[in-house]
Amino acid sequence: MSRQIIVGNWKMNGTRQDAQALVQALISGLPASAPDVVVCPPFTQLALVEPALAASPIGLGAQDCHKDVSGAHTGDISPLMLADLGVTHVILGHSERRQEHGELDETVREKAVAATKAGLTPIVCIGETEEQRESGEYEDVLGWQIKGSLPDGFAGIVAYEPIWAIGTGLAATTDQIAQTMSFLRAELVRQFGEAGKAIKILYGGSVNAGNAVSVLSIPEVAGALVGGASLKADAFLSIVSAASAA
Ligand code: 13P
Repeated sequence: MSRQIIVGNWKMNGTRQDAQALVQALISGLPASAPDVVVCPPFTQLALVEPALAASPIGLGAQDCHKDVSGAHTGDISPLMLADLGVTHVILGHSERRQEHGELDETVREKAVAATKAGLTPIVCIGETEEQRESGEYEDVLGWQIKGSLPDGFAGIVAYEPIWAIGTGLAATTDQIAQTMSFLRAELVRQFGEAGKAIKILYGGSVNAGNAVSVLSIPEVAGALVGGASLKADAFLSIVSAASAA
């Protein structure tokens, strides 16, 4: 298996003090043969943790960016600003942004183009609702999300996060993940040809210290996008240890 990537999405959590303590604990506890590790703090904590992370193997990611480089977009942050801070990765199209901010596939695609232009690696999230899973239409939904959210020539990372598994403590089963991952791989190859084989697919949704080994052993799972468990150093480091650094 190739080197996996474990991404911590801190969402809207923590003070500056919490962020600094968490980063210090992660740096000091990082195993010697760690996989790629990226943490995505809130915007307000990026500059604070950047120096410590820059001196460590842990990468710095953000949780969103605008599609433009600059301009009249009150409250938004551009990919150029993130790159300027030393950010290397950016999560785009998370279901919480799609649901709470009405982000459409097209918006996500434009953001992915802008992030790539700024030198960032986009981590584009896709995932179905519980209703879509149960009705059996989830494959159509995921296929459309790939088609709509990933730009031509996409060279970033895809994160498959079933919405029903996010923050519920109930991860998808290994069978569900394995089946969906092979569907996603086939779809990426269908839409992107040979290049679709190289796109890494992460799983996200209630990954924790207890299920990380089984989730990360599933074929096609190139790593994990971790929410709640990324806020606790011990839990996140256990997930990191469960990943392959081969
Ligand atoms: P949880 O790990 O808390 O389920 O969150 C997953 C997620 O949304 C990561 O982006």
